[in-house]
Amino acid sequence: MSSSSTIDRNLGLELVRATEAAALGAARWMGRGNKIGADQAAVDAMRYILNHVDMDGLVVIGEGEKDEAPMLFNGEKLGNGAPPAVDIAVDPIDGTRLTAEGSPGALAVVAIAERGTMFDPGPIVYMDKIAVGPKAKGSINIEWPIEKNLQSVARARNKDIDDLTVVILDRPRHKELIQRVRNSGARIRLIRDGDVAGSISVALPDTGIDILVGIGGTPEGVITAAALKCLGGEIQAKLWPRNDEERDSASALGLDPDRILLTDDLVAGENIFFAATGITDGELLDGVKFFGNGAQTTSVSMRSKTGTIRYIRAIHRWDKLMKVSTIKYDL
Ligand code: FBP
Repeated sequence: MSSSSTIDRNLGLELVRATEAAALGAARWMGRGNKIGADQAAVDAMRYILNHVDMDGLVVIGEGEKDEAPMLFNGEKLGNGAPPAVDIAVDPIDGTRLTAEGSPGALAVVAIAERGTMFDPGPIVYMDKIAVGPKAKGSINIEWPIEKNLQSVARARNKDIDDLTVVILDRPRHKELIQRVRNSGARIRLIRDGDVAGSISVALPDTGIDILVGIGGTPEGVITAAALKCLGGEIQAKLWPRNDEERDSASALGLDPDRILLTDDLVAGENIFFAATGITDGELLDGVKFFGNGAQTTSVSMRSKTGTIRYIRAIHRWDKLMKVSTIKYDL
């Protein structure tokens, strides 16, 4: 059935064009030590492409508040205004520092779902998260001590605890968590940045990653929920206000930091599209490779309704592209 309130096209393929453009823009800044330059290039390119998509898009999860970076702001309208009406979550660069350093694992990411179905975290920039893939779905509880969650995930995955690999952002706030995971015997993959890629890796076969835990960005949490709904995994989260001021402003907006947010609370939609393109080389996706008169990108596109996951390797040719695009790819 086709109607303005349903999403009938596979918008995931159009989203890939936006993440490709953001990655191509950001990758020019790889290793140049300029986070703002990289972010600006990614934001501009993503905005340009998303504005040409046939959709009435509303940015619910923007990016940049945490570090005052260039951003696609919350409440911004994207698309040409035609149906379907959708909520949009953007992260033009997840791993801005990784891009600026030329370190592995930076991605350009976007997700969309039916209008009104994405959780709006207001001004709260961090959330506590626990995420697992399809095999361990239903075996976690963010209220449990970490040791109990590890035991439960190990059981669900038919492994011993010391076979588990746990992804944690390498931050001082996780000192105790890391120690407790070590004491339990599980193995740890500390990541410098990029917990969207970390969360997706728990749900893909052959990554060897079993669970992600710890405090990371709220935008990344909502985007992760979108990806995990496509992959059949699960995330649980709780808002993590940094101080009383943030706690008060959350309460004023009716946001309860004690509420457990399940995957469906973060993204309630049933027709969700997710796309990501590698900026720097990573385990999930290869980064952008430039070859003089063009570049190659590697992306993934997913759709929750069908469960289809597409990996897309694209060749971009500046001589052709520059005749139709206003984005300056051929610097
Ligand atoms: P940005 O690229 O937007 O800075 O995000 C990188 C990131 O590592 C996220 O993946 C993660 O959720 C968040 O930062 C963690 O925040 P912080 O670096 O402040 O601990």
